[in-house]
Amino acid sequence: MENQYIIKGGTPLYGEVTISGAKNAALGILAAAIMTDETVTIDNLPDVRDINVLLDAIEGIGATVHRIDSHTVEINGSTINDVSIDYDSIRKIRASYYLLGALLGKYSKAQVALPGGCDIGSRPIDQHLKGFRALGATVNIEYGMINTHADKLVGSHIFLDVVSVGATINIMLAACMAEGRTVIENVAKEPHIVDVANFLNSMGADIKGAGTDKIRIRGVERLHASEYSIIPDQIEAGTFMAAAAATKGSVLIKNVIPKHLEAISVKLVEIGATVEEFDDSVRVSANGRLRHTQIKTLPYPGFPTDMQPQIATLLALSEGTSTITESIFENRFKYVDELARMGASIKVEGNVAIIEGVEEFTGATISAPDLRAGAALVVAGLVADGYTTVDSIQYIERGYECFEKKLRELGASIEKIPIDDERAVQKFKLKVG
Ligand code: EPZ
Repeated sequence: MENQYIIKGGTPLYGEVTISGAKNAALGILAAAIMTDETVTIDNLPDVRDINVLLDAIEGIGATVHRIDSHTVEINGSTINDVSIDYDSIRKIRASYYLLGALLGKYSKAQVALPGGCDIGSRPIDQHLKGFRALGATVNIEYGMINTHADKLVGSHIFLDVVSVGATINIMLAACMAEGRTVIENVAKEPHIVDVANFLNSMGADIKGAGTDKIRIRGVERLHASEYSIIPDQIEAGTFMAAAAATKGSVLIKNVIPKHLEAISVKLVEIGATVEEFDDSVRVSANGRLRHTQIKTLPYPGFPTDMQPQIATLLALSEGTSTITESIFENRFKYVDELARMGASIKVEGNVAIIEGVEEFTGATISAPDLRAGAALVVAGLVADGYTTVDSIQYIERGYECFEKKLRELGASIEKIPIDDERAVQKFKLKVG
C-alpha cells in the first residue's frame, strides 16, 4: 500500500538525532563484498530501500546473504552461480551498475540491466564503459542489458572525461584484481569513494590515492574476508542540518564526520545559522530570519548536488535574493513547482534557480519528485503554517532511514499514513491539535 507523510508545520526541531550509514558508500561496498569467496561482515548499513534491493540482487545471483540485524549483514560470494542480473527492482536503482564492475573484476564477465535511479537528468554511463574497455573488456548494450566480458583484465591508464562518482567506484572494482597497475585520473573525491577504497583494501586490494584526483591500483590475485563499518551519511546529516536551521531549532546531529559536512556548514554559517563542530557530531541552531547567498553545486569538496533541494528550501525562506547553480545534473529543479504551491518564489533559468525569499510557507498537498527533493519538501512542510501532505514518499524511503521517526523524536508533528486514508488524517489532526 502506498503511504504519504502528513505534517503539521511550525514546531522548531530540538534534541539529538543519530545519522545512519552512508547509502552511496554502502551500495559500492555491498557490490565489492561479492568479489571474495570468503565471508565479509558489513556493519552500519542504512536500512533503506536501495540497499535492500541491491542485497536481494546479490542473493538472486546465488551469493549467501545473512542479515544479522537491520544494520549488519554477512555476505559470502563463493556460491554465486549466475553473472546475469535483470529484475524489475534492479532496473530502478542506479547502483546496479556496481555489480557490473564487481562481477567483471571477479569473473571477467557480467550482464546487468541498464541502470535506473532518480530522474534528475540524463545519466550516461559512458565513462564506466570506457574504463572497462581500457582494462581489456568488450562491452555491448543489447536489449536493455549491458554485456561485458574479457579474456583477462589488464591494468591501464584511464583519464575520466567527467568527474563521476559511479565511474570512479566501478573502475576501481573492475581493476582491483586486474593484472598489473591501473591509474585512474580526474576521479571523484567524495567520502564514499574513499570508503569503498578502504573497504577493498581491507579485503587485500592495493588501492592508493582515493580522495585525491588520481587513484593508483596494483592488481592482486585474490581478495579475502573482512569486517567493515560504513561511514556516516553526509547527505542525511546535511538534510537534518537544513531542517534544524529552517525550523529555527537547535539539533545535535550525532555520528557524523564534520569534515565531510564543511561545504554545507560554511553556507549555513554564511546565511546566519550557528554550526558548532565536535569530534563526531555537529550542532546546528538558528534564530530569526536567515540571509540570502549564492551556491554552485560541484563535486566534493564543493557543495553537494544531493543537498541542493534542501538548501533551496531554506533559502526560499531567507531574506533577499539567492541563486543556486546546479552544475552536476540538469533536471534537479523539479521540486520548484511543488514549493511554489507552498508560497515559495523561485524562477528557474537553465541551470540556475533564482530564489526570492518569502516570509513564510503555507501547507499544501505536494508530491516528492525524487529522493533529495522529497526530503526538501518534508523540510518545507515542517516550516509551513498548517498541514502539508507529501505523496510519493517511496522516493524518500530509497535513502532515508526512519525519516519521519527521527524527525518526530526532534519534536516534529509528522506521521506516515496510508494514502487517501481520511480517518488517519483526522486522527493525526486530533492528536496534534
Ligand atoms: C552518484 O550518482 C550518486 N548515486 C548520486 O546520489 C549523486 O547525486 C551523484 O553521484 C553526484 O554526487 C550513487 O552513488 C548511487 P556521477 P552517479 O556519475 O554516480 C556525468 C542521491 O540522491 N556522467 O558522479 O550516477 C553525469 O551525467 C543520488 O543519493 C557522465 O557524463 O553520478 C553527471 O553530470 C542521486 N558519464 C556527472 O557526470 C558517465 O559515465 C556526475 O555523475 C557518468 C557520469
